[in-house]
Amino acid sequence: MSKTESKGTGAGDGALEIKDTRTGSTYSVPIMPPATEGDTAIRAMDLRPIKVEAGEFGLMTYDPAFMNTASCKSAITFIDGDKGILRYRGYPIEQLAEKASFLEVAWLLRNGELPTQAQYDDWTHQITFHTYVHENIKTFLSGFRYDAHPMSMLTSTVAALSSFYPNAKNIQDPEERHISIVRLLAKLPTLAAFCFRHVKGLPIIYPDNDLSYVENFLSMVARMSEPKYESNPVFTKALEVLFILHADHEQNCSTNAVRAVGSSHVDPFSAVAAGIAALYGPLHGGANEAVLHMIKEIGDVKNVAGFIEGVKGGKGNRLMGFGHRVYKSYDPRARIVKKLADDVFKVVGVDKDLEIALELERIALSDDYFVSRKLYPNVDFYTGLIYRSMAFPTDFFTVLFAVARTAGWLAQWEEMLNDKEQKIARPRQIYTGYGERAYSTSLDYSVATARKDAVRK
Ligand code: CMC
Repeated sequence: MSKTESKGTGAGDGALEIKDTRTGSTYSVPIMPPATEGDTAIRAMDLRPIKVEAGEFGLMTYDPAFMNTASCKSAITFIDGDKGILRYRGYPIEQLAEKASFLEVAWLLRNGELPTQAQYDDWTHQITFHTYVHENIKTFLSGFRYDAHPMSMLTSTVAALSSFYPNAKNIQDPEERHISIVRLLAKLPTLAAFCFRHVKGLPIIYPDNDLSYVENFLSMVARMSEPKYESNPVFTKALEVLFILHADHEQNCSTNAVRAVGSSHVDPFSAVAAGIAALYGPLHGGANEAVLHMIKEIGDVKNVAGFIEGVKGGKGNRLMGFGHRVYKSYDPRARIVKKLADDVFKVVGVDKDLEIALELERIALSDDYFVSRKLYPNVDFYTGLIYRSMAFPTDFFTVLFAVARTAGWLAQWEEMLNDKEQKIARPRQIYTGYGERAYSTSLDYSVATARKDAVRK
């Protein structure tokens, strides 16, 4: 790019005229053509030629937490946060939640189109066929303590799967990619259920390949002595819908982790393990667990108003299950989940925690603190209540999220690999530390071992 005419990499529909007041030079930065839904951007690399001296690095953008930076082009999921719209491959989430199956959605996310009957049957067959895991997985699961968090166990076991499938590292081979994707989708429910049984001290239940994806998962979690598990149809439907709602959500923290780790060309088991680790955090997938802890702490409907005042008072408490980086109106998934909660509670009965949740929502939606910050319930606000009414323990909620999100992570991972513009993810930094200084030390290395007086108390 010359100082008066851009030679930026994007063929733009318009340009940004930039004047550098340090030098008086003006630059023309092309604006990329609007994408399907009108998204526009400039390429950060087009700013690099802006500099004072010829030998300088050039101008960077500074964007902690990616508040306004697109890290990729993606055709998988579309969100309009102001209008509360979520679509997978163009299909509104409301329609998919009502009519589709989770495996159909997993196919759609990956392939871009809905499957034909033959494709769906084959896909379902392949995933069902690969539900079993190597027996050694049980051996190292038994090494976890009885109170291990299931998300720690899931992260580790998924990462360990990469050692069972060394060919998975051949990520440029479409057949290897395919079988890894099938294996991950097939084995995640099995691993999740194994973690559940370990924590409960119950014997492992192996997959039953006569059952659907969701029924089989519920069977591995809940079956006891009965020869064939029959799940409650309301619970089966609820979990199928929740899996669809959680299947993808464009460039969220965990998907960004999968893409970033996958960009080093590591195998997909390791990349997905990174996604599970990112999901574990309470600001992300861990929020559904945190909502339940918060409700427990509130304890009674009469304490809700006081709790809300505490949140507003800036004591560090957040209203968990509220707010979203992208949605600045009602999260469309939360709307569906709320309706689903009604269906489930018709079966199991309303409990006092739902009353607390409803009161929290009522007060927050009419309070200026939340309204002015556009803080609305997100998907995690009601999911925990549904999971708990299905008798899942609180620390297992995020595991359920991880099983479903695996579909999205894999679609995004493969899209990243097929994107010719992608390279290893490697952000820049703005260095704020010392300038160069000379090393000198007064340390005596000979005493740097465990001190004799450091007796464990
Ligand atoms: N309760 C109270 N205040 C909040 C909340 C909340 N849940 N969320 C944001 N705020 C306030 C925040 O204090 C800030 O106020 P101020 O401008 O006075 O400093 C303002 O709203 C903007 O917040 P932010 O932290 O800059 O917003 P963000 O986009 O960085 O954070 C979020 C998004 C989801 C991390 C945040 O809203 C949050 O912590 N929510 C609670 C955790 C949660 O429910 N997470 C699940 C997200 S949905 C599922 C998923 O993606 O996993």
